[in-house]
Amino acid sequence: MAAGNLKIQVLDSADAVAAAASEFVIKAIAAKPKFVLGLATGSTPEKTYAKMAEANKAKKVSFAKVTTFNLDEYWGLDGDHDQSYRYFMNDRLFNHIDIRPWNTNVLNGAAVNPMLECAAYEQKILACGGVDLWLLGIGANGHIAFNEPGSPVDSRTRLVSLTQSTIDANSDGRFFKVAADVPRCALSAGIGTIRESRQIILLATGAGKADAIKAAVDGPFSPDCPASLLQDHPDCTFFIDKEAAAKLS
Ligand code: F6R
Repeated sequence: MAAGNLKIQVLDSADAVAAAASEFVIKAIAAKPKFVLGLATGSTPEKTYAKMAEANKAKKVSFAKVTTFNLDEYWGLDGDHDQSYRYFMNDRLFNHIDIRPWNTNVLNGAAVNPMLECAAYEQKILACGGVDLWLLGIGANGHIAFNEPGSPVDSRTRLVSLTQSTIDANSDGRFFKVAADVPRCALSAGIGTIRESRQIILLATGAGKADAIKAAVDGPFSPDCPASLLQDHPDCTFFIDKEAAAKLS
């Protein structure tokens, strides 16, 4: 299925989404071992990361020459905090694959100067030749990374405020236990930063993402749904399960 430039793959289950997404990443790395891979956190990619780690263990892929950049990090949490995205990535992926730790980049949520941290991150992405493939999730309100509705199409890595719906979603017990513990701000790659990736894959599973997927695919190209701002990307594929696809026309 294609909507505008978007390629949409509807799969039977969350497991099938993870299998398809990890295969996609593995093939891309096989074609270019010195790969620059953009990554997301959250529940959705966890199974994909487990499959990538399995494939690495089975020697079907090597991350030895891969450099990664993560989308975002909570402002005020350092990488040792068990809810930081640096911790998440080490725990779910990096500690289980042959990637060189110094080739993994996550924004520093404890940086003294967030503006400098964000500018340096953009510079580092450029110095690495740009991102080859960015793997994204999507928020129930259509956000990508922490680009909440209203984020400009040309936004760059910066300090952002989280909406109440994102704070609530991230304190439903999967991550933080209570909303009061969720940082109110984050450092996030911008929509412009993400759109410059040569390829993008977006993963969505479950009925809770159906409205966001509908708005991203069938809705207008608009900052009201940040994921809709991927519609004109030259090489963007959505891997979604039937439940997330349920409201598509
Ligand atoms: C996190 C990120 C977020 C998540 C989104 C969905 O790095 O980029 O945009 O992808 O909040 O999160 P889950 O997968 O937990 O539903």
